[in-house]
Amino acid sequence: MPTETVYGLAADAANPRAVAAVYAAKGRPSFNPLIAHVADLAMARRIAGFEARAEALAARFWPGPLTLVLPASDDMAVCDLARAGLDTVAVRAPAHPLAHALIAAFGGPVVAPSANRSGRPSPTTLADAMDETGAAAAAVLDGGPCAIGLESTVVSLLDTPRLLRPGAVTRAEIEAVVGPLSEAEADAKRSPGRLTRHYAPNLPVRLNVTEPRDDEVWVGFGPRWPGAFNLSPRGDLAEAAANLFSFLRAADRSQAKGIAVAPVPGEGLGEAINDRLRRAAGFVG
Ligand code: TXA
Ligand code: MG
Repeated sequence: MPTETVYGLAADAANPRAVAAVYAAKGRPSFNPLIAHVADLAMARRIAGFEARAEALAARFWPGPLTLVLPASDDMAVCDLARAGLDTVAVRAPAHPLAHALIAAFGGPVVAPSANRSGRPSPTTLADAMDETGAAAAAVLDGGPCAIGLESTVVSLLDTPRLLRPGAVTRAEIEAVVGPLSEAEADAKRSPGRLTRHYAPNLPVRLNVTEPRDDEVWVGFGPRWPGAFNLSPRGDLAEAAANLFSFLRAADRSQAKGIAVAPVPGEGLGEAINDRLRRAAGFVG
């Protein structure tokens, strides 16, 4: 299923067999829970407890690339396996018209982790999704290339608002609604996905490279650091985010011995881009 962020591998959130098949197709450890995708706020309220800050964030950013971690309700619409046994649930209402139509027609929450195999870059086209987990899919929806290209921002609202994963909605945009965000804790129960290596190509990745080696393929940014693959020749972060995973994949397919990535500014969307780049390079935060 296409979403505005990346392609997802979708399944009935209430069906443990379907959810187990998603974990298996991704090679994902079952302690790492999945996001329940909903058609609208009414569907979200059936599966999660919404307090004032959650209401405010949903009102501002849904449908869109924001995932909220909330207390799970007793309703079994999101099965235990999808929540990795936690008493919390991650919820997002995607903005992509095909994702929305699918979930609305189905009538209940749909889990959809990024359609990559665990530890690999997220797919931003149907072709890349097919390469990763296509063999497991009963049916596919082609929405063309994803507009954003980076996964949703994950914010936990269990106690003080916490940024578990920087993403398409920037820190500043979230803080404008709920005030200062705390950092993700190294606590596996609270941010399970942060413990696994992520988004990694096969070739080794070096960051902040302004002079690549002869045997490296250079992924550039802006006019100063052009590279063989330039994330954004004009230095635009949104364009760079949209190109990031597909360019890492393309660089990975080259004959080079490694991937050298030019510096990308860290503000705004750059926080999420640099987070994914650090993970691609093997620095797990
Ligand atoms: O943009 C996206 O969010 C994409 C598209 C397909 O919607 N989906 C996606 O799902 O990135 P996934 O499964 O690849 O990443 C979900 C992240 C993981 O880091 C996971 O650990 C975290 O959300 N997560 C899920 N449930 C959680 C929970 N109850 N508590 C804390 N973190 C949770
Ligand atoms: Mg993922």
